[in-house]
Amino acid sequence: MTQSVAIVTGAAGDIGRAIASRLADDHDVILLVDIDLVAAEKAARMLGPVERFVALSCDVTSAESVAAMAKAAAALGAVRTLVNNAGAARAVSLQSTTPEDWRADTALNLEAPFLCFMAVADLLKATQGSVINIASVNGMNVFGHPAYSAAKAGMLHFTKLVAVEYGKFGIRSNAIAPGTVRTQAWEARAAANPNVFEEARRWYPLQRVADPMDVANAVGFLASPQANSISGVCLPVDCGLTAGQAELARTFSQSADY
Ligand SMILES: NC(=O)c1ccc[n+]([C@@H]2O[C@H](COP(=O)([O-])OP(=O)(O)OC[C@H]3O[C@@H](n4cnc5c(N)ncnc54)[C@H](O)[C@@H]3O)[C@@H](O)[C@H]2O)c1
Repeated sequence: MTQSVAIVTGAAGDIGRAIASRLADDHDVILLVDIDLVAAEKAARMLGPVERFVALSCDVTSAESVAAMAKAAAALGAVRTLVNNAGAARAVSLQSTTPEDWRADTALNLEAPFLCFMAVADLLKATQGSVINIASVNGMNVFGHPAYSAAKAGMLHFTKLVAVEYGKFGIRSNAIAPGTVRTQAWEARAAANPNVFEEARRWYPLQRVADPMDVANAVGFLASPQANSISGVCLPVDCGLTAGQAELARTFSQSADY
């Protein structure tokens, strides 16, 4: 029987690895795609047998590299799920953003999901599969990292574009917007300020930040038949951040109930 395949980009990272682990619950093979092959191979080894967790070197910002990735995925079986998870932010503020930063952040966070989807669209048509884009709360409101955020906002629109244009092929397209998640992407900030998570925590209604597995479980749901009628949405996994801030509600209402 043909094996079902899930592609996870940026799979060597903490969120990507958690997504790969979760998708293995209902996919036969997970293709762990990353620009850092050594790290992707390490992640694959951590997750399980080489027949099920396959590491692949790919720069998702390069059309040639992405085309080779799609070919490798097709050779593994029937591609049912694409998770556009590779992402990173360079520029921290608009005033410090160079044109080069802007291009790099938008290439990785917006153009690459487009390249990856287009490369596997026919494979997803064949399985009536789905794409899940890992966006960010930064795509919904201003939380710093402007070029990254503008790209993530574009990614949310791209999610809807695919839902509308490819719905007739049975392809579903959804996004997830994580708030703060403890991952290696925070290493430099945590080194500069050891209290960074403690300071972030107070803005979150649940008074904590998310774990990579929280994001992975949302991906698992959206990729599953349980989400068969869900397309074009963005599911925040943000401990309530985009619902509002209790501190502000306390000031505005002058009620200690917040
Ligand atoms: N960590 C957070 O707080 C947070 C919050 C919101 C959204 N996100 C999003 O979640 C996703 C994963 O974030 P993370 O925190 O696990 O990051 P991470 O830095 O731990 O992992 C990102 C991975 O992407 C890979 N990558 C970078 N450029 C690539 C390229 N050109 N081609 C292929 N792979 C490439 C890196 O090698 C790395 O393994 C990102 O899209 C990020 O924007 C993270």
